[in-house]
Amino acid sequence: MIFELQITNVPDLEQLRSILAGAGITAVDLAEIDQPGDLPALAIYRESSAETRRLRAAFRKIIPVECGLILRELKVADWRDKWKEDFQAFQLSSRFDVVPAWDTKYLPTPRMPIRMDTSLAFGTGLHETTRFMVKLLEGVIEQVDSFFDIGAGTGILAIAASFLGVKLVEAVEIDPDAVKVARQNFRRNKLSVPRIFRQDIGKCLRHKQYDYVAANLITPDLMRLSDKIVSFVAPGKYLALSGISLENYDLIRKHFSKYPFHYVKAVKGKEWVALLCRRTADNRRWTGELR
Ligand SMILES: C[S@@+](CC[C@H](N)C(=O)[O-])C[C@H]1O[C@@H](n2cnc3c(N)ncnc32)[C@H](O)[C@@H]1O
Repeated sequence: MIFELQITNVPDLEQLRSILAGAGITAVDLAEIDQPGDLPALAIYRESSAETRRLRAAFRKIIPVECGLILRELKVADWRDKWKEDFQAFQLSSRFDVVPAWDTKYLPTPRMPIRMDTSLAFGTGLHETTRFMVKLLEGVIEQVDSFFDIGAGTGILAIAASFLGVKLVEAVEIDPDAVKVARQNFRRNKLSVPRIFRQDIGKCLRHKQYDYVAANLITPDLMRLSDKIVSFVAPGKYLALSGISLENYDLIRKHFSKYPFHYVKAVKGKEWVALLCRRTADNRRWTGELR
């Protein structure tokens, strides 16, 4: 079962997002529901009824009085259908389109289609944090023979890396449902290269190093897991970080400045920023701050 908690009748979406951010609910967690004729609504989805009720009680105390709260139970099938209604083929990057698995009317473009089922996993490519990751990878792809995605979600980054010709593509994902979805997506795209492991990266004991490590996680996780994340990057090679809201960018740059990395590039949007940095070849500590 999936539980949906809607905050309806929202007079100011940005104000509500920042109230919720203060309560630890990040934008990644929130879906915007467009209801023609009504004020917009935001929804959050949880698998536990108790947790959703707890959130409802907590929200009641902090959201503007004119907002409503609606909690409803969705069957997994409803959840999938909800995604299908909203999800149509779109351009992910200069090289890729994302095409829903059930779309039979997609007309070929000069870009490569990535066929996706996104039910129960994050990463359709509609979110800036994912699109930025694909863009950063495309920019240095000639130097990448091995790729590691920390928190694969639907597997979209691993799929893009495989289509771009990376020979070794591996990923970890903590959520078993997402692992299933990612494996289906690999098969759907007829890819045998990517391998995904169900694992909490914080408990991962592998000692492998890769040419390119991608971590699109929430800021507290990027910081908490940073020692582990950087340990997977080979000397002279790349680390891409995403899931960073603009207000957390300084925090992340300062935090990662203690590692032997220097800044390569950042992609910024209205709310999010993704950062590409490179490990120093001699492993010596980088003296400046990441710009
Ligand atoms: C924001 S999504 C990113 C999905 C995809 N890589 C992308 O860029 O669109 C983050 C994913 O990381 C997973 N995740 C969170 N914490 C994790 C951890 N400690 N170990 C492994 N995966 C984790 C979540 O379940 C989620 O699927």
